[in-house]
Amino acid sequence: MKALIIYWSGTGNTKKVAETIDNTLKNSGVDSVLKPVKEAGAEDLHEYDLVFIGAPSHMWQPPAPVQEYIKDKMNYYRERDYIKLGSPKVRGKYGVVFTTYSGPHTGINEAIPVGKYLGQFLEHLGFDLAGEWYVVGEFHGSEENSTKGRLGDIRGRPNQQDLDNIARDVNELLKTIKG
Ligand SMILES: Cc1cc2nc3c(=O)[nH]c(=O)nc-3n(C[C@H](O)[C@H](O)[C@H](O)COP(=O)(O)O)c2cc1C
Repeated sequence: MKALIIYWSGTGNTKKVAETIDNTLKNSGVDSVLKPVKEAGAEDLHEYDLVFIGAPSHMWQPPAPVQEYIKDKMNYYRERDYIKLGSPKVRGKYGVVFTTYSGPHTGINEAIPVGKYLGQFLEHLGFDLAGEWYVVGEFHGSEENSTKGRLGDIRGRPNQQDLDNIARDVNELLKTIKG
């Protein structure tokens, strides 16, 4: 099984999650490739059985470089007639999205639009969306947003427990898709 993990990370939280996914896959014998979005432009997603895309929430959206990547890729696949009406699933292709967020105002609702946005990209390409994961991350550079928001004191997140939960979710996912 081949897996690709694409991510963008401004202050390191999403990178930690991406690396945990990558290490967990490798420990299970999956041939996994980890790429920041700026190095992922040439990757053909259909060459992989399992594709992960991860980004933080910036004003309830994926950061601009992630949106640009997705728009470019959608154009690329549309020109090649890969974007079909009804978005039929391509057999054996699974996708997972992951979003990190600080939720200072409305909690996880600030991250859900990001997860949905990323997920729509993979679903439009025919991937079976097998996971939509949300991970709390410290708001680096803002103590107020990291201690006084709706989620309370989130300094140090994602912490080891958060990353262990991700590793567990990866292993559960592998069990499900390997049947
Ligand atoms: C410019 C900017 C805007 C942000 N906007 C939001 C937001 O609207 N909602 C939220 O929950 N977190 C917001 N955050 C916090 C990040 O989503 C959170 O800290 C995330 O884990 C950062 O991931 P990264 O370290 O991979 O960049 C924002 C952070 C930055 C730097």
